[in-house]
Amino acid sequence: MICGKKTRLRAMEREDIPLCLRWFNDPEVRQYLSMYMPLSVDEEERWFERQLERQDARVFAIETVEGVHIGNIGLHDLDWKNRNAELGVVIGEKAYWGLGYGSDAIRTLLRFAFDEMNLHRVHLRVFDFNERAIRCYRRCGFREEGRLRQGLYRGGAYHDVLLMGILQEEFCDLQGVASQSPEMAQSEAPLNER
Ligand SMILES: CC(C)(COP(=O)(O)OP(=O)(O)OC[C@H]1O[C@@H](n2cnc3c(N)ncnc32)[C@H](O)[C@@H]1OP(=O)(O)O)[C@@H](O)C(=O)NCCC(=O)NCCS
Repeated sequence: MICGKKTRLRAMEREDIPLCLRWFNDPEVRQYLSMYMPLSVDEEERWFERQLERQDARVFAIETVEGVHIGNIGLHDLDWKNRNAELGVVIGEKAYWGLGYGSDAIRTLLRFAFDEMNLHRVHLRVFDFNERAIRCYRRCGFREEGRLRQGLYRGGAYHDVLLMGILQEEFCDLQGVASQSPEMAQSEAPLNER
């Protein structure tokens, strides 16, 4: 378990597949993701099998501290030479949107990525109409690094894709600022200090 304040991250299990399938086949969730085709049980099972073998990706289940599985978060295209990776996240349970679970899971994964995996940068892509996600990423310290103009065709129109990233040193600086505030110190402290 990788523990945050509101969430904890655990390994994905085969038994998680039906729930993930429900999320990824929900158009309201899927509109924000790069996948756009309906997903079958077979496809999701094959994806799961491939993940077990991969050295360049790691996906975790996001649970509330009460143990409810509400989404997934992962690092993809892990590049061990340049020490970077792409972050992907989905809170599939829509009742949990906008309540701070996504921010907490992202900060928890970033802490693990920088303090334990020794990555140097983490980046992500987000569609320009996904205001909730953009706000959440900014709040976690991600900065806009670029924009793929009209890089996405969705719903009969072209949309921009934003590139955002955060460096190890920027995340450490944010941790320092947070730890100056006593009420945030416990949740924001590096793993090895908790
Ligand atoms: C994107 C996602 C991971 C964010 O997690 P979350 O728990 O919903 O986000 P948080 O509550 O931590 O933060 C959301 C921020 O957006 C704001 N927000 C909430 N609803 C919003 C809305 N409809 N429009 C704009 N901003 C909104 C919140 O106030 C908060 O900002 P603040 O902290 O400055 O007040 C989650 O919503 C999700 O998985 N959505 C569906 C799939 C998705 O978009 N994945 C990301 C693909 S790049």
